[in-house]
Amino acid sequence: MDKELLIKKAKQVSEKAYAPYSGFKVGAALLTKSGKVFTGCNVENSSYGLSNCAERTAVFKAISEGKMDFSELVIYVDSDILFTPCGACRQVLSEFSSDLKITIISNKDRLETTITELLPYKFHL
Ligand code: THU
Repeated sequence: MDKELLIKKAKQVSEKAYAPYSGFKVGAALLTKSGKVFTGCNVENSSYGLSNCAERTAVFKAISEGKMDFSELVIYVDSDILFTPCGACRQVLSEFSSDLKITIISNKDRLETTITELLPYKFHL
């Protein structure tokens, strides 16, 4: 799939983010090896610790639809600052793919990386 289309989907879903506490709207577009795309946004809660990141929303949507063969992830944050996924999301993403390509986009920057680069010594049973 065209990377630009994945970026467009990540941007579109970031508009759905429920982020009244941080104001940090994040969108994720997760591509499976069979070409299906699952999107996700962050969903916050007044009990802050219950908030869910965009990446995990996308993964959980995919798993619940029976897909786990991920090849690529695009993450977009509506900010000038480029961030990288939190530790919880890295661990969850690493559960399903050792070769996942990750592109992180802000309004000013872009970073191309992989899940192995982000979490080299993952916990795995
Ligand atoms: N957030 C994500 O959606 N993905 C990340 O990788 C890091 C943080 C969200 C969680 C929370 O809603 C907001 O960004 C600020 O932490």
